[in-house]
Amino acid sequence: MTRLAEADPSADRSLYDRVPYPGYPYAQTDPDRLATLAMLFGLKPPALETCRVLELGCGDAANLVSLAVSYPDASFLGIDAAQSAVARARALVAALGLTNVALDEEALERMQPTPGGFDYVIAHGVYSWVAPPVRDRLLALCRSALSAHGVAYVSYDALPGGRLKQAMREMLAFHTLGVEDPHERLERARSLLHLLIDGWSAEHEFGAVMRLEAERLLARSDQTLLHDELAAVNEPVYFHEFAAHAARHGLQYLAEADFFEIQTGALPERASEQLIGVDDPLVREQYLDFLKGRRFRQTLLCQAELALDRSPRPLLVMPLAVSSSARSSGSDRSGRTTFEGPTGGTLTTDHPLVIRALESVGESWPGAVWVRDLVPEHAGDDDQRAVCDALLRCYAGGLVQLHMRPPRLTTRVSERPEASPLARHQAESGHLVTNLRHQVVKIEDALGRRLVTLLDGSRDRTTLASELRACLLEADLEEPDDLEDGLARSLEGLAGLALLRS
Ligand SMILES: C[S@@+](CC[C@H](N)C(=O)[O-])C[C@H]1O[C@@H](n2cnc3c(N)ncnc32)[C@H](O)[C@@H]1O
Repeated sequence: MTRLAEADPSADRSLYDRVPYPGYPYAQTDPDRLATLAMLFGLKPPALETCRVLELGCGDAANLVSLAVSYPDASFLGIDAAQSAVARARALVAALGLTNVALDEEALERMQPTPGGFDYVIAHGVYSWVAPPVRDRLLALCRSALSAHGVAYVSYDALPGGRLKQAMREMLAFHTLGVEDPHERLERARSLLHLLIDGWSAEHEFGAVMRLEAERLLARSDQTLLHDELAAVNEPVYFHEFAAHAARHGLQYLAEADFFEIQTGALPERASEQLIGVDDPLVREQYLDFLKGRRFRQTLLCQAELALDRSPRPLLVMPLAVSSSARSSGSDRSGRTTFEGPTGGTLTTDHPLVIRALESVGESWPGAVWVRDLVPEHAGDDDQRAVCDALLRCYAGGLVQLHMRPPRLTTRVSERPEASPLARHQAESGHLVTNLRHQVVKIEDALGRRLVTLLDGSRDRTTLASELRACLLEADLEEPDDLEDGLARSLEGLAGLALLRS
């Protein structure tokens, strides 16, 4: 186990008070994502609308609050030991007037949740960053807090890919030995990274690999560098170790939060065939990590007693909704059309219904379309199966997202547009806001940010235009000739960023 400078892991906890860790929303923790995967793997996940969600090590609750805004009838509990993070979380909850979020300033070791009291448990960025007894406690909490069909999300640094990061960490540990002050540690760490980058030649095997690693670290913010690479504990584990640890706590591996991450299809053909031949799914996943050099996992767990079906059947997709930013990259002369997804996955098809379905999904982005609305009423079983099969393959290839509960957003700008209240609040003070797909989006210009703050559903376009005019006047800026047109374009842009709700 790699510890930095014989540091005390409990000191790390208070370090979160001295240097705040910036929270973000993580779309991969959305209960909709967890439930959809559970359903595809043969489980009956708890109802989403009224679900009970627990986040362990929630930090400033940037993730939990984003979910709470999207699920007004669900209830959310966040727990974290860092006093200042919980204080920031409480301030955010109060500013938004949310009544469905509770926060506990408490160590996981002392938490006593209601047995079976939560349908979805989230622990993002915690497992690898706490000492072994807390890791044990984290999984014990997942087991005891989860309802019978509930799903837990636990992310952690993985091996073998994490070894490169460990090597960097050990060099940084040497260079920062005995330095207590966080700012001085950061300064020393950055100076070592510069030295290494200057000294490692691209022609040298070790240097070529490690240089990229050092550059990646240099690009990180002070806060993440301090709480990640320079943390007292940052322990990557092999997937098989994690799965065995979960099993000791009565939990079993369900899937990864990104379905495409557990597919062998993207590997070269011979490797893919050999892996498909491995019967034990957990062993197959371990080999997949060797081949991918995986360094981070976002694993879903469920109660060990549940029977899983690890080969989702295409027709299970039928009651779901689908969303995708994938676009057609063209058709050949025989009518075969290729669609390319955001992570580079592609699907080529000549099936007219599948082509139409994927085009229609793309046109609805960032919103979602029910699969039943993609299959014409007169379509026969074969056509229905073809569409479902293609969508499941697209899901496996990372081209589409499937949803039991599609994101509550609108792509049509209404007469009195309304932005997410969280985004409105965030736009008051910064350019990073959270959209209704639980992602961070950037609004660069001050006028755009001002516009977001005004979108509370009470103002029509005329009022919005006059408030923007007043804003320009106040800033001593000239009004553009086409303010109304510009406003219309901006509103369309905000809808495209998944910031407007219906
Ligand atoms: C790397 S941060 C991750 C925060 C948040 N989940 C995220 O991903 O943005 C780890 C969080 O775990 C909390 N933490 C660490 N040890 C803890 C413990 N024993 N009990 C409760 N919280 C703990 C820290 O205070 C910190 O907020």
